[in-house]
Amino acid sequence: MNNKICDMLGIEFPLLAFSHCRDVVAAVSRAGGMGIFGGVNCSPETLEEELSWIDDHVDGKPYGLDIIVPNKVEGKGEQPDHDAVLASIPGELKQFTNDIMQSHGVDTGRIAEDIEDVRREQVAFTDNLRGGTADAILDVAFRHPIGLVANALGVPPPVMLEMGRKHNVPVAALVGAKEHAMSQVAAGVDIIVAVGGEAGGHTGEISTLVLIPEICNALAAIGDETPVLAAGGIATGTQMAATMAMGASGAWCGSVWLTTAEAETNPVVKEKMLSASSRDTVRARSRTGKPSRQLRSPWTDAWEAEDAPSALPMPLQSLVAEPPLRVIDKLSQGDNQGAKDLATYWVGQGVGLMNEQMTAGQVVQGFKEDFITAYERLATNLGE
Ligand SMILES: Cc1cc2nc3c(=O)[nH]c(=O)nc-3n(C[C@H](O)[C@H](O)[C@H](O)COP(=O)(O)O)c2cc1C
Repeated sequence: MNNKICDMLGIEFPLLAFSHCRDVVAAVSRAGGMGIFGGVNCSPETLEEELSWIDDHVDGKPYGLDIIVPNKVEGKGEQPDHDAVLASIPGELKQFTNDIMQSHGVDTGRIAEDIEDVRREQVAFTDNLRGGTADAILDVAFRHPIGLVANALGVPPPVMLEMGRKHNVPVAALVGAKEHAMSQVAAGVDIIVAVGGEAGGHTGEISTLVLIPEICNALAAIGDETPVLAAGGIATGTQMAATMAMGASGAWCGSVWLTTAEAETNPVVKEKMLSASSRDTVRARSRTGKPSRQLRSPWTDAWEAEDAPSALPMPLQSLVAEPPLRVIDKLSQGDNQGAKDLATYWVGQGVGLMNEQMTAGQVVQGFKEDFITAYERLATNLGE
């Protein structure tokens, strides 16, 4: 395909795949799209390992990296003492998560230590979310042949924009509202990823169908030619074509890769996703402190109940929710029915269209075929 994003990124088909799983990233790049590795939970050392693995498995094709440095976050730029951060998590919130598990037959006494172990491990990643580790992470990233670097939840930190320019690597930013897109182009980002409210993970409230033309029109009105990638609810090539008909230069998808053969998604959750409908997700603060869309389960229902406590701000809520959810994930893969019921993960409304397990390469191929179908359908409508 011959378009702005393909030229800018050196790819064949303008489909970008966000994934925390390196196998998905490499498979999509090899299939002609572009895999984007989600590095939010990486230390500089683990990022080095992951990117080296991708380098060895991508057949020289372009891939990218995504990190999260939010504009608004508790203690931005700080690297506080981890013991003090752990001590600041209110006991009543830990008790609330224990109560959810206990009411589903999960023996929390037996897993209390496991949960605390994960909590101690996770606290290091709150430094990433405060932006305190961005320099070290980007130092590692730019030693690899990355073809794009992206930031979520705000204007990229200046070091990302500077290093992108220095290494001639486009910098992308995820946005959920027109106003945010305007701030991003003013800051100098090269690609806008417009994420509609249908999306899995952190997301705003405006639907993709409205957000894409809103942002494309606003950029056109100021004569700005920054390409826009459409995201949120896109699981097929026909949807991708529709967003490109509205002015997007390609698509950025996250959810659709979660049920691929390569994805490391908990198999129990994978099965739930394959049978879920588009109504089975919820957008809630309860996992990270900022609104993110997740697969509905009794866990998310409990947090949505009227008497549920309020979530802590990012990055502290992750330390409340993530440790028990990681342990639930592990238990669910044994014979613990309560854990199977509670297990959940981020996914968008496109889950209703994800009904069959395929390889990531087959998904890319399916997108290409569907894209042509959409084009032909429109041409037929025009009587061509
Ligand atoms: C499991 C999962 C984890 C995600 N984690 C991140 C992340 O770490 N950084 C980020 O920029 N976006 C993240 N996202 C959001 C994606 O980048 C993208 O905006 C979203 O998946 C697009 O909508 P879709 O899920 O409907 O395809 C995540 C999405 C999912 C489904």
